Amino acid sequence: MSDWDPTQYLKFAGERLRPALDLLARIPAAAPATVVDLGCGAGNLAPLFQQRWPQAKLIGVDSSPQMLAKARADYPQASFVQADFATWRPDRSVDVLYSNAALHWLDGHDTLFPALLETVAPGGWMAVQMPRNFAAPSHTCVIETIEQGPWRAALEPLLRRRPVGAPQDYWRLLEGRAASLDICEIEYLQVLKGENPVAEFVKGSWLKQFLDRLQEPERGAFEADYRARVRAAYPPEAGGSTLFPFRRLFILAQRRQ
Ligand SMILES: C[S@@+](CC[C@H](N)C(=O)[O-])C[C@H]1O[C@@H](n2cnc3c(N)ncnc32)[C@H](O)[C@@H]1O
Repeated sequence: MSDWDPTQYLKFAGERLRPALDLLARIPAAAPATVVDLGCGAGNLAPLFQQRWPQAKLIGVDSSPQMLAKARADYPQASFVQADFATWRPDRSVDVLYSNAALHWLDGHDTLFPALLETVAPGGWMAVQMPRNFAAPSHTCVIETIEQGPWRAALEPLLRRRPVGAPQDYWRLLEGRAASLDICEIEYLQVLKGENPVAEFVKGSWLKQFLDRLQEPERGAFEADYRARVRAAYPPEAGGSTLFPFRRLFILAQRRQ
């Protein structure tokens, strides 16, 4: 996977923080000793964990050197580990395993999710939020741009059309292993400012993996093609704001005793 650009990603820090806060608020743990933030990115959630659970040891796990460099510089009080969450497992079980907007980057959820719940101590919590906006124009325009341009052969092998399953899929995976399980979706109506802000938002996350595979001038042409499609799909309102509904899946599982 190409590396992340924390500046582009955090252009919409407010919109990206909202589901992270909603996920955190759902976890009923009173005083966990160990909290892991899986796919911690730039570590920007570290102060929220420290505020909520000041006694907890916080470990952030991420594979991106760029994101971790920012995390370590901004939050020296937390521990950050560079690892792939396909293979990373803690030395000892954790009380809260939290993951916001990260696990959709990896396939194989049918084995990954049960394995991650196994890393949680009995009675502890696994809390996961993943985008599920892949049927919306923000994401179908990525597919159209790939399929209808000269870059198709280079980019199509990277396409993952359904990175996140239905809520029912996760219930069936986890129900037999969980003492309690709560799964829901929220569609946030994001109200964005600026020129073609949906394209800017997606460029900070899903689009970047494709852009990074191309050299100029193809890279510029690919981005321009995507931007034109997205601008047409999300025209600005009369006052200049752009409405960007964004669906997200929340999973809260308590490990069986
Ligand atoms: C969209 S960012 C989310 C960052 C943070 N959780 C937040 O809410 O702001 C996704 C993060 O997942 C990380 N990531 C993606 N695939 C990964 C993998 N296989 N192993 C570890 N980290 C991964 C990326 O490096 C990136 O920092």
